[in-house]
Amino acid sequence: MGRTVGSAPLPVSGRVSDTGRMESVLTRREPVRSLGMYVHVPYCSSRCGYCDFNTYVPGEAGHGSRESWRQAAIDEVSLAARELSPDRRVDTVFFGGGTPTLLPTSDLGAVLDEIDQQLGLASNAEITVEANPETISGEKLQELLDCGINRLSLGMQSADQQVLNLLDRVHSPGTAVAAAQEALAAGVSLVSLDLIYGTPGEDLRSWRSTLAAALDAGVGHISAYGLKVEPGTALHRRVRRGEVPRVDQDYSAAAYDATDEILSAAGLNWYEISNWSLAGHECRHNLNYWRGGDWWGIGPGAHSHLAGSRWWNHRSPQRWAAALQEGKSPRAGEEQLTEDQLLTELVMLHIRLVQGLDPADLGQNRNHITAKAEQLRELGLLSVGEPLTLTLAGRRLADRVTVELLEHA
Ligand SMILES: C[S@@+](CC[C@H](N)C(=O)[O-])C[C@H]1O[C@@H](n2cnc3c(N)ncnc32)[C@H](O)[C@@H]1O
Ligand code: SF4
Repeated sequence: MGRTVGSAPLPVSGRVSDTGRMESVLTRREPVRSLGMYVHVPYCSSRCGYCDFNTYVPGEAGHGSRESWRQAAIDEVSLAARELSPDRRVDTVFFGGGTPTLLPTSDLGAVLDEIDQQLGLASNAEITVEANPETISGEKLQELLDCGINRLSLGMQSADQQVLNLLDRVHSPGTAVAAAQEALAAGVSLVSLDLIYGTPGEDLRSWRSTLAAALDAGVGHISAYGLKVEPGTALHRRVRRGEVPRVDQDYSAAAYDATDEILSAAGLNWYEISNWSLAGHECRHNLNYWRGGDWWGIGPGAHSHLAGSRWWNHRSPQRWAAALQEGKSPRAGEEQLTEDQLLTELVMLHIRLVQGLDPADLGQNRNHITAKAEQLRELGLLSVGEPLTLTLAGRRLADRVTVELLEHA
Protein backbone atom coordinates (compact mmCIF):
# COMPACT_ATOMS: atom_id res chain seq x y z
CA MET A 1 0.00 0.00 0.00
CA GLY A 2 2.09 5.18 -0.13
CA ARG A 3 3.95 4.78 -3.32
CA THR A 4 5.56 7.72 -5.14
CA VAL A 5 2.29 9.16 -6.10
CA GLY A 6 1.52 6.11 -4.15
CA SER A 7 -0.49 3.24 -2.90
CA ALA A 8 -2.65 3.35 0.21
CA PRO A 9 -0.74 5.16 2.95
CA LEU A 10 -1.25 3.97 6.47
CA PRO A 11 -4.15 6.04 7.41
CA VAL A 12 -5.65 7.30 10.59
CA SER A 13 -7.38 10.51 11.19
CA GLY A 14 -9.80 12.37 13.30
CA ARG A 15 -11.49 15.68 13.17
CA VAL A 16 -10.80 18.89 15.00
CA SER A 17 -13.87 20.12 16.85
CA ASP A 18 -14.86 23.79 16.97
CA THR A 19 -13.04 24.09 20.25
CA GLY A 20 -9.88 22.98 18.52
CA ARG A 21 -9.77 19.60 20.30
CA MET A 22 -9.16 16.56 18.13
CA GLU A 23 -12.23 14.40 18.17
CA SER A 24 -12.01 10.85 16.89
CA VAL A 25 -14.57 9.74 14.34
CA LEU A 26 -15.48 7.13 16.90
CA THR A 27 -16.60 9.60 19.51
CA ARG A 28 -19.39 10.76 17.21
CA ARG A 29 -22.64 8.93 17.98
CA GLU A 30 -23.90 6.67 15.22
CA PRO A 31 -26.48 3.90 15.59
CA VAL A 32 -24.33 1.39 13.71
CA ARG A 33 -20.62 1.94 13.41
CA SER A 34 -19.00 0.95 10.21
CA LEU A 35 -15.79 -1.10 10.15
CA GLY A 36 -13.43 -2.26 7.40
CA MET A 37 -11.64 -5.61 7.76
CA TYR A 38 -8.28 -6.12 6.05
CA VAL A 39 -7.11 -9.75 5.87
CA HIS A 40 -3.43 -10.20 5.00
CA VAL A 41 -2.39 -13.32 3.10
CA PRO A 42 1.43 -13.32 3.30
CA TYR A 43 2.25 -15.81 0.55
CA CYS A 44 3.55 -15.53 -3.02
CA SER A 45 4.89 -18.18 -5.37
CA SER A 46 7.90 -15.98 -6.20
CA ARG A 47 9.07 -12.56 -5.08
CA CYS A 48 8.99 -9.61 -7.49
CA GLY A 49 12.24 -7.63 -7.27
CA TYR A 50 10.54 -4.30 -6.46
CA CYS A 51 8.22 -5.53 -3.72
CA ASP A 52 8.80 -4.91 -0.01
CA PHE A 53 5.40 -6.08 1.20
CA ASN A 54 5.26 -8.58 4.06
CA THR A 55 5.14 -11.70 1.94
CA TYR A 56 6.92 -15.07 1.97
CA VAL A 57 7.80 -17.56 -0.74
CA PRO A 58 7.84 -21.32 -0.02
CA GLY A 59 10.73 -22.38 2.18
CA GLU A 60 11.44 -18.85 3.45
CA ALA A 61 12.08 -18.45 7.21
CA GLY A 62 8.90 -17.58 9.10
CA HIS A 63 6.59 -18.84 6.32
CA GLY A 64 4.51 -21.18 8.53
CA SER A 65 1.85 -23.47 7.13
CA ARG A 66 -1.29 -22.62 5.22
CA GLU A 67 -3.33 -24.50 7.84
CA SER A 68 -1.87 -22.44 10.67
CA TRP A 69 -2.60 -19.21 8.72
CA ARG A 70 -6.24 -20.23 8.31
CA GLN A 71 -6.74 -21.17 11.97
CA ALA A 72 -4.93 -18.06 13.24
CA ALA A 73 -6.95 -15.77 10.94
CA ILE A 74 -10.17 -17.31 12.29
CA ASP A 75 -8.86 -16.92 15.85
CA GLU A 76 -8.04 -13.25 15.22
CA VAL A 77 -11.59 -12.63 13.97
CA SER A 78 -12.84 -14.07 17.30
CA LEU A 79 -10.44 -11.80 19.15
CA ALA A 80 -11.80 -8.80 17.22
CA ALA A 81 -15.37 -9.83 18.05
CA ARG A 82 -14.51 -10.02 21.76
CA GLU A 83 -12.84 -6.60 21.75
CA LEU A 84 -15.28 -4.66 19.57
CA SER A 85 -18.60 -3.34 20.80
CA PRO A 86 -21.67 -5.10 19.34
CA ASP A 87 -22.88 -2.04 17.39
CA ARG A 88 -20.22 -2.68 14.74
CA ARG A 89 -21.09 -3.67 11.19
CA VAL A 90 -18.49 -4.78 8.67
CA ASP A 91 -19.02 -2.82 5.45
CA THR A 92 -15.90 -3.87 3.57
CA VAL A 93 -13.51 -6.81 3.61
CA PHE A 94 -10.24 -6.72 1.67
CA PHE A 95 -8.13 -9.89 1.24
CA GLY A 96 -4.74 -8.42 0.33
CA GLY A 97 -1.26 -9.73 0.03
CA GLY A 98 0.84 -11.33 -0.94
CA THR A 99 -1.31 -13.39 -3.23
CA PRO A 100 -4.62 -14.35 -1.59
CA THR A 101 -5.66 -16.39 -4.63
CA LEU A 102 -2.78 -18.83 -3.99
CA LEU A 103 -4.81 -20.19 -1.07
CA PRO A 104 -7.66 -22.60 -1.63
CA THR A 105 -10.76 -20.41 -1.90
CA SER A 106 -12.28 -22.38 0.98
CA ASP A 107 -9.68 -20.77 3.30
CA LEU A 108 -10.82 -17.28 2.31
CA GLY A 109 -14.44 -18.43 2.61
CA ALA A 110 -13.84 -19.79 6.11
CA VAL A 111 -12.45 -16.43 7.27
CA LEU A 112 -15.30 -14.56 5.60
CA ASP A 113 -17.90 -16.82 7.24
CA GLU A 114 -16.27 -16.20 10.60
CA ILE A 115 -16.41 -12.43 10.04
CA ASP A 116 -20.07 -12.70 9.14
CA GLN A 117 -20.97 -14.91 12.10
CA GLN A 118 -18.92 -13.11 14.73
CA LEU A 119 -19.17 -9.48 13.59
CA GLY A 120 -21.90 -9.29 10.97
CA LEU A 121 -21.39 -8.36 7.34
CA ALA A 122 -23.54 -5.59 5.85
CA SER A 123 -25.89 -6.94 3.17
CA ASN A 124 -24.20 -4.73 0.58
CA ALA A 125 -20.64 -5.31 1.85
CA GLU A 126 -17.82 -4.81 -0.63
CA ILE A 127 -15.62 -7.92 -0.53
CA THR A 128 -12.36 -7.58 -2.47
CA VAL A 129 -9.66 -10.10 -3.29
CA GLU A 130 -6.27 -9.09 -4.69
CA ALA A 131 -5.09 -11.55 -7.30
CA ASN A 132 -2.14 -12.17 -9.53
CA PRO A 133 -3.39 -12.77 -13.08
CA GLU A 134 -1.79 -16.18 -13.47
CA THR A 135 -3.78 -17.52 -10.49
CA ILE A 136 -7.13 -16.80 -12.15
CA SER A 137 -9.16 -19.44 -14.03
CA GLY A 138 -12.85 -19.93 -14.77
CA GLU A 139 -13.06 -22.40 -11.91
CA LYS A 140 -11.29 -20.07 -9.47
CA LEU A 141 -13.62 -17.20 -10.41
CA GLN A 142 -16.68 -19.35 -9.78
CA GLU A 143 -15.34 -20.37 -6.37
CA LEU A 144 -14.65 -16.74 -5.48
CA LEU A 145 -18.15 -15.69 -6.52
CA ASP A 146 -19.69 -18.60 -4.60
CA CYS A 147 -17.95 -17.55 -1.41
CA GLY A 148 -19.24 -13.97 -1.71
CA ILE A 149 -16.37 -12.06 -3.31
CA ASN A 150 -17.74 -9.19 -5.42
CA ARG A 151 -14.59 -7.18 -6.24
CA LEU A 152 -11.35 -8.35 -7.82
CA SER A 153 -8.14 -6.32 -7.93
CA LEU A 154 -5.68 -7.75 -10.44
CA GLY A 155 -1.97 -6.91 -10.54
CA MET A 156 -1.34 -6.20 -14.22
CA GLN A 157 1.51 -3.63 -13.85
CA SER A 158 2.28 -3.29 -17.57
CA ALA A 159 1.44 -4.52 -21.06
CA ASP A 160 5.12 -4.32 -22.02
CA GLN A 161 6.98 -7.63 -21.72
CA GLN A 162 10.30 -5.87 -21.09
CA VAL A 163 8.83 -3.94 -18.18
CA LEU A 164 7.27 -7.11 -16.77
CA ASN A 165 10.69 -8.81 -17.04
CA LEU A 166 12.42 -5.99 -15.18
CA LEU A 167 9.75 -6.18 -12.45
CA ASP A 168 10.17 -10.01 -12.25
CA ARG A 169 6.49 -10.53 -13.00
CA VAL A 170 5.77 -14.11 -14.02
CA HIS A 171 2.70 -13.42 -16.19
CA SER A 172 2.70 -12.25 -19.78
CA PRO A 173 1.08 -8.94 -20.87
CA GLY A 174 -2.13 -10.54 -22.12
CA THR A 175 -2.78 -12.66 -19.02
CA ALA A 176 -4.07 -9.80 -16.85
CA VAL A 177 -6.38 -8.43 -19.55
CA ALA A 178 -7.75 -11.93 -20.22
CA ALA A 179 -8.27 -12.52 -16.47
CA ALA A 180 -10.12 -9.20 -16.12
CA GLN A 181 -12.37 -9.96 -19.08
CA GLU A 182 -13.07 -13.45 -17.78
CA ALA A 183 -13.93 -12.04 -14.34
CA LEU A 184 -16.36 -9.51 -15.81
CA ALA A 185 -17.98 -12.19 -17.99
CA ALA A 186 -18.29 -14.53 -14.98
CA GLY A 187 -20.24 -11.84 -13.09
CA VAL A 188 -17.69 -10.18 -10.79
CA SER A 189 -19.31 -6.76 -10.78
CA LEU A 190 -16.26 -4.69 -9.78
CA VAL A 191 -12.89 -5.38 -11.38
CA SER A 192 -9.79 -3.24 -10.98
CA LEU A 193 -6.38 -3.39 -12.64
CA ASP A 194 -3.22 -2.28 -10.79
CA LEU A 195 -0.55 -0.66 -12.97
CA ILE A 196 2.98 0.64 -12.33
CA TYR A 197 4.56 3.45 -14.33
CA GLY A 198 8.11 4.78 -14.33
CA THR A 199 9.95 1.45 -14.59
CA PRO A 200 13.40 2.16 -16.11
CA GLY A 201 13.24 1.40 -19.82
CA GLU A 202 9.54 2.32 -20.12
CA ASP A 203 8.67 5.26 -22.38
CA LEU A 204 5.45 7.15 -22.97
CA ARG A 205 4.58 5.00 -26.00
CA SER A 206 4.85 1.84 -23.92
CA TRP A 207 2.89 3.41 -21.03
CA ARG A 208 0.12 4.65 -23.32
CA SER A 209 -0.20 1.10 -24.73
CA THR A 210 -0.48 -0.27 -21.19
CA LEU A 211 -3.29 2.17 -20.41
CA ALA A 212 -5.04 1.33 -23.69
CA ALA A 213 -4.80 -2.41 -22.94
CA ALA A 214 -6.19 -1.90 -19.43
CA LEU A 215 -9.10 0.14 -20.80
CA ASP A 216 -9.75 -2.44 -23.52
CA ALA A 217 -10.29 -5.00 -20.78
CA GLY A 218 -13.47 -3.05 -19.91
CA VAL A 219 -12.76 -2.56 -16.19
CA GLY A 220 -14.35 0.28 -14.20
CA HIS A 221 -11.37 0.95 -11.93
CA ILE A 222 -7.64 1.41 -12.49
CA SER A 223 -4.91 2.12 -9.93
CA ALA A 224 -1.61 3.50 -11.26
CA TYR A 225 1.38 3.77 -8.93
CA GLY A 226 4.74 5.33 -9.67
CA LEU A 227 7.44 2.67 -9.21
CA LYS A 228 9.14 3.13 -5.87
CA VAL A 229 12.54 1.52 -5.49
CA GLU A 230 12.30 0.33 -1.91
CA PRO A 231 15.44 -0.19 0.22
CA GLY A 232 16.06 -3.86 0.91
CA THR A 233 14.60 -5.09 -2.37
CA ALA A 234 16.47 -6.87 -5.18
CA LEU A 235 15.64 -3.95 -7.48
CA HIS A 236 17.21 -1.50 -5.04
CA ARG A 237 20.41 -3.56 -5.03
CA ARG A 238 20.45 -3.64 -8.83
CA VAL A 239 20.03 0.14 -9.03
CA ARG A 240 22.80 0.62 -6.46
CA ARG A 241 25.15 -1.61 -8.46
CA GLY A 242 24.36 0.46 -11.56
CA GLU A 243 22.77 -2.48 -13.41
CA VAL A 244 19.43 -0.67 -13.66
CA PRO A 245 19.02 3.11 -14.08
CA ARG A 246 17.24 5.15 -11.41
CA VAL A 247 13.57 6.07 -11.88
CA ASP A 248 13.44 9.27 -13.94
CA GLN A 249 11.18 11.66 -11.98
CA ASP A 250 10.51 13.91 -15.00
CA TYR A 251 9.40 10.90 -17.01
CA SER A 252 7.20 9.72 -14.11
CA ALA A 253 5.52 13.14 -13.97
CA ALA A 254 4.80 12.97 -17.72
CA ALA A 255 3.47 9.41 -17.33
CA TYR A 256 1.16 10.59 -14.51
CA ASP A 257 -0.24 13.37 -16.73
CA ALA A 258 -0.77 10.90 -19.59
CA THR A 259 -2.59 8.57 -17.19
CA ASP A 260 -4.97 11.27 -16.10
CA GLU A 261 -5.62 12.44 -19.66
CA ILE A 262 -6.25 8.95 -21.09
CA LEU A 263 -8.30 7.57 -18.22
CA SER A 264 -10.47 10.68 -17.87
CA ALA A 265 -11.16 10.64 -21.60
CA ALA A 266 -12.46 7.09 -21.12
CA GLY A 267 -14.77 8.19 -18.27
CA LEU A 268 -12.58 6.94 -15.41
CA ASN A 269 -12.06 9.98 -13.20
CA TRP A 270 -9.53 10.36 -10.43
CA TYR A 271 -10.94 10.08 -6.92
CA GLU A 272 -7.61 9.60 -5.14
CA ILE A 273 -4.17 10.55 -6.43
CA SER A 274 -3.39 7.03 -7.72
CA ASN A 275 -6.92 5.81 -8.39
CA TRP A 276 -9.36 6.38 -11.25
CA SER A 277 -12.84 4.88 -11.67
CA LEU A 278 -16.23 5.05 -13.28
CA ALA A 279 -18.82 6.59 -10.95
CA GLY A 280 -19.83 3.97 -8.38
CA HIS A 281 -16.73 1.80 -8.94
CA GLU A 282 -14.54 3.49 -6.30
CA CYS A 283 -12.93 1.14 -3.77
CA ARG A 284 -15.00 1.66 -0.62
CA HIS A 285 -12.47 -0.18 1.53
CA ASN A 286 -9.62 2.17 0.60
CA LEU A 287 -11.90 5.22 0.84
CA ASN A 288 -12.52 4.26 4.46
CA TYR A 289 -8.74 4.40 5.08
CA TRP A 290 -8.36 7.73 3.36
CA ARG A 291 -11.31 9.23 5.20
CA GLY A 292 -9.84 8.20 8.53
CA GLY A 293 -12.39 5.48 9.30
CA ASP A 294 -11.87 2.45 11.52
CA TRP A 295 -10.50 -0.85 10.38
CA TRP A 296 -9.17 -4.06 11.84
CA GLY A 297 -6.24 -5.77 10.13
CA ILE A 298 -6.18 -9.56 10.44
CA GLY A 299 -2.92 -11.36 9.67
CA PRO A 300 0.85 -11.07 10.05
CA GLY A 301 2.10 -7.48 9.96
CA ALA A 302 -1.44 -6.14 9.53
CA HIS A 303 -2.17 -2.67 10.93
CA SER A 304 -5.41 -1.61 12.63
CA HIS A 305 -7.01 1.68 13.64
CA LEU A 306 -9.83 2.30 16.09
CA ALA A 307 -10.75 5.55 17.78
CA GLY A 308 -7.39 7.25 17.25
CA SER A 309 -5.40 4.27 18.47
CA ARG A 310 -3.40 2.18 16.10
CA TRP A 311 -1.60 -1.15 16.45
CA TRP A 312 0.24 -3.65 14.29
CA ASN A 313 0.79 -7.40 14.40
CA HIS A 314 3.98 -9.46 14.42
CA ARG A 315 5.32 -9.58 10.86
CA SER A 316 6.34 -13.23 10.83
CA PRO A 317 3.41 -15.52 9.93
CA GLN A 318 4.82 -18.15 12.30
CA ARG A 319 5.14 -15.77 15.23
CA TRP A 320 1.72 -14.22 14.60
CA ALA A 321 0.03 -17.65 14.36
CA ALA A 322 1.88 -19.00 17.42
CA ALA A 323 0.69 -16.06 19.56
CA LEU A 324 -2.94 -16.65 18.60
CA GLN A 325 -2.60 -20.42 19.09
CA GLU A 326 -1.35 -19.80 22.63
CA GLY A 327 -4.29 -17.47 23.29
CA LYS A 328 -2.02 -14.41 23.37
CA SER A 329 -2.31 -11.10 21.54
CA PRO A 330 -0.62 -11.10 18.10
CA ARG A 331 0.21 -7.38 18.50
CA ALA A 332 3.81 -6.24 18.13
CA GLY A 333 3.17 -2.61 19.03
CA GLU A 334 0.55 0.08 19.47
CA GLU A 335 0.24 3.84 19.83
CA GLN A 336 -2.35 6.43 20.72
CA LEU A 337 -2.22 9.21 18.16
CA THR A 338 -1.43 12.65 19.50
CA GLU A 339 -3.40 15.70 18.37
CA ASP A 340 -0.49 16.67 16.10
CA GLN A 341 -0.48 13.23 14.50
CA LEU A 342 -4.24 13.34 14.01
CA LEU A 343 -3.98 16.69 12.27
CA THR A 344 -1.13 15.44 10.05
CA GLU A 345 -3.12 12.36 9.05
CA LEU A 346 -6.23 14.40 8.37
CA VAL A 347 -4.39 16.80 6.04
CA MET A 348 -2.23 14.12 4.38
CA LEU A 349 -5.12 11.79 3.61
CA HIS A 350 -7.95 14.18 2.76
CA ILE A 351 -5.80 16.26 0.42
CA ARG A 352 -5.25 13.11 -1.69
CA LEU A 353 -8.97 12.80 -2.42
CA VAL A 354 -10.96 14.54 -5.13
CA GLN A 355 -13.29 15.87 -2.39
CA GLY A 356 -10.26 17.54 -0.83
CA LEU A 357 -9.71 18.97 2.63
CA ASP A 358 -12.58 20.82 4.27
CA PRO A 359 -11.30 23.82 6.30
CA ALA A 360 -14.25 23.29 8.65
CA ASP A 361 -12.49 20.12 9.87
CA LEU A 362 -9.36 22.04 10.90
CA GLY A 363 -10.59 23.73 14.07
CA GLN A 364 -8.07 26.19 15.50
CA ASN A 365 -5.63 25.43 12.65
CA ARG A 366 -8.09 26.66 10.06
CA ASN A 367 -6.78 30.19 9.58
CA HIS A 368 -3.15 29.15 9.48
CA ILE A 369 -3.73 26.33 6.97
CA THR A 370 -6.00 28.36 4.70
CA ALA A 371 -3.34 31.13 4.60
CA LYS A 372 -0.78 28.53 3.55
CA ALA A 373 -3.26 27.25 0.98
CA GLU A 374 -3.38 30.71 -0.59
CA GLN A 375 0.38 30.55 -1.28
CA LEU A 376 0.01 27.07 -2.80
CA ARG A 377 -2.85 28.34 -4.98
CA GLU A 378 -0.58 31.03 -6.36
CA LEU A 379 1.90 28.29 -7.29
CA GLY A 380 -0.87 26.44 -9.12
CA LEU A 381 -0.82 23.48 -6.74
CA LEU A 382 -4.30 23.99 -5.24
CA SER A 383 -7.54 24.91 -7.01
CA VAL A 384 -9.40 28.11 -6.27
CA GLY A 385 -12.16 27.85 -3.63
CA GLU A 386 -13.03 25.44 -0.86
CA PRO A 387 -12.62 22.60 0.03
CA LEU A 388 -8.88 22.57 -0.63
CA THR A 389 -8.29 20.35 -3.66
CA LEU A 390 -5.15 19.54 -5.61
CA THR A 391 -4.67 20.64 -9.21
CA LEU A 392 -3.06 18.19 -11.63
CA ALA A 393 0.34 19.75 -10.84
CA GLY A 394 -0.49 19.54 -7.12
CA ARG A 395 -1.29 15.83 -7.40
CA ARG A 396 2.24 15.21 -8.63
CA LEU A 397 3.60 17.12 -5.62
CA ALA A 398 1.12 16.03 -2.96
CA ASP A 399 3.79 15.29 -0.35
CA ARG A 400 5.20 18.81 -0.68
CA VAL A 401 1.71 20.33 -0.45
CA THR A 402 1.05 18.36 2.75
CA VAL A 403 4.33 19.46 4.32
CA GLU A 404 3.72 23.10 3.42
CA LEU A 405 0.14 23.13 4.67
CA LEU A 406 1.29 21.74 7.99
CA GLU A 407 4.33 23.97 8.37
CA HIS A 408 4.19 25.60 11.83
CA ALA A 409 0.61 24.32 12.34
C1 LIG B 1 1.76 -5.75 -3.08
S1 LIG B 1 0.77 -6.07 -4.46
C2 LIG B 1 -0.27 -7.33 -3.86
C3 LIG B 1 -1.16 -7.89 -4.93
C4 LIG B 1 -0.57 -8.85 -5.91
N1 LIG B 1 0.33 -9.76 -5.32
C5 LIG B 1 0.13 -8.13 -7.06
O1 LIG B 1 1.30 -8.33 -7.22
O2 LIG B 1 -0.57 -7.43 -7.75
C6 LIG B 1 -0.34 -4.69 -4.65
C7 LIG B 1 0.08 -3.65 -5.65
O3 LIG B 1 1.02 -2.78 -5.06
C8 LIG B 1 1.76 -2.15 -6.09
N2 LIG B 1 3.17 -2.10 -5.68
C9 LIG B 1 3.83 -2.98 -4.90
N3 LIG B 1 5.12 -2.59 -4.72
C10 LIG B 1 5.27 -1.43 -5.42
C11 LIG B 1 6.38 -0.54 -5.64
N4 LIG B 1 7.59 -0.77 -5.10
N5 LIG B 1 6.17 0.54 -6.40
C12 LIG B 1 4.94 0.79 -6.92
N6 LIG B 1 3.88 -0.03 -6.76
C13 LIG B 1 4.03 -1.12 -6.02
C14 LIG B 1 1.58 -2.98 -7.36
O4 LIG B 1 0.86 -2.27 -8.31
C15 LIG B 1 0.78 -4.18 -6.89
O5 LIG B 1 -0.12 -4.63 -7.84
S1 SF4 C 1 3.23 -11.01 -6.39
FE1 SF4 C 1 2.56 -9.04 -5.49
S2 SF4 C 1 2.85 -9.26 -3.28
FE2 SF4 C 1 3.95 -10.97 -4.28
S3 SF4 C 1 6.02 -10.24 -4.45
FE3 SF4 C 1 4.99 -9.68 -6.36
S4 SF4 C 1 4.15 -7.58 -6.02
FE4 SF4 C 1 4.73 -8.44 -4.03
